[in-house]
Amino acid sequence: MKIPDYDLNQHTDTLSRKTFLRFSTYIQSELGIRMPETKMSMLQSRLQKRLRLLEINYFDDYCDYVFSTAGRLNELDAMVDAITTNKTDFFREPQHFDYLSMTLLPRIIKSCSSNNLKTIKVWSAGCSTGEEPYTLAMVLNEVRARFNELHYSILATDISAGVLQTAITGIYDHEKAEPIPIQLRKKYLLRSKDRKKDLIRITPQLRAYVKFRQANLMKEALGAKEFMDIIFCRNVIIYFARPIQEKVLNRLYRHLVPGGFLFIGHSETLSGMNVPLTQVSSTIYQKRAL
Ligand SMILES: C[S@@+](CC[C@H](N)C(=O)[O-])C[C@H]1O[C@@H](n2cnc3c(N)ncnc32)[C@H](O)[C@@H]1O
Repeated sequence: MKIPDYDLNQHTDTLSRKTFLRFSTYIQSELGIRMPETKMSMLQSRLQKRLRLLEINYFDDYCDYVFSTAGRLNELDAMVDAITTNKTDFFREPQHFDYLSMTLLPRIIKSCSSNNLKTIKVWSAGCSTGEEPYTLAMVLNEVRARFNELHYSILATDISAGVLQTAITGIYDHEKAEPIPIQLRKKYLLRSKDRKKDLIRITPQLRAYVKFRQANLMKEALGAKEFMDIIFCRNVIIYFARPIQEKVLNRLYRHLVPGGFLFIGHSETLSGMNVPLTQVSSTIYQKRAL
C-alpha cells in the first residue's frame, strides 16, 4: 500500500464512477449532502488530501478502508471533515442579529413576568468553527446588559469533529474579527500575547455560555425532550436535496417550543414545503404558540 517517496507528488489516481457512487451514496444517505455526478471532481480533490496524508495510492483502496471496521473508527470523521463545506463568519448575515437584539429578545423578555424569568435556549445547528454561536453569545450578553434580566444557554452542534475542535478552543486568525463591532471586540476577544501569531481568542466568560456537541441533523440530533426557544440553522440545508431539507426542518420544528423561532440562511427558503412554521421576517419563521 505504501508508495515510494518519488511517486508521492506525481501520483494522481482518478476517482472511478463506481467508487464515486459508493462515496456519494453514503454521503447522501448518511449526511444528507447532495452529491450528483457533477460534483465528482470536487469530491476527488477534497479526498485527495486524505489519500496523500495516509499515503494511500488509489481511491478504491481508500474507499475500502473508509468503510471497513477500522476505517469507520479511525477515518470516517476525517472524511466527513474533508467533504463538508464549513465557510462561516462572525456576524454573518447581520440582519438576523439585529432582529434578535432589537425585536425578538426584547419581546420575549417583556412576555415573561419578572418573577417568571426563564432561560432562553438557543441552538446553532451546523455551527461550523463556532463563529455563529459566539456571535449569538455576544448579542445575548449585550441584550442582557440592557435588560438585566436574561438567562440564556447556547447549544452548538455540527457533524464535523474537526470544525468542533476549532470551535471549542475559540481561537481564530485576527482578521476573522473584522465583522465584529469594535466595542464588542474589546469586551469579548483576547489578543494573543505573541503578536507575530496574530491570533484572537474568545474570552473564557463568553466561551462558558456555549456548549458544543457533535450531532448529525439526519439523525435525532437532540434528546426527545430537548426544546429550544430559538434555532439558527443557516447555510446547512442548502447542501441537502429538497425532500431531505423538508425532513430536517420538520425535525427542527419538533425541537422548538410553541412560539419558538427558526432562522435559516438567506439563500434558503421554506416556501412550498410542508413545515408548519409562519414567516415573521425574511428567512425567520415562528412555530405557532399554544
Ligand atoms: C457552511 S457551514 C454554515 C455555518 C454557519 N451556520 C453559518 O451560517 O455561518 C455548514 C455546516 O453544516 C455542517 N453540516 C453539513 N451536514 C450536516 C449534517 N448532516 N448534520 C450536521 N451538520 C452538518 C457542516 O459540517 C458545516 O460546518
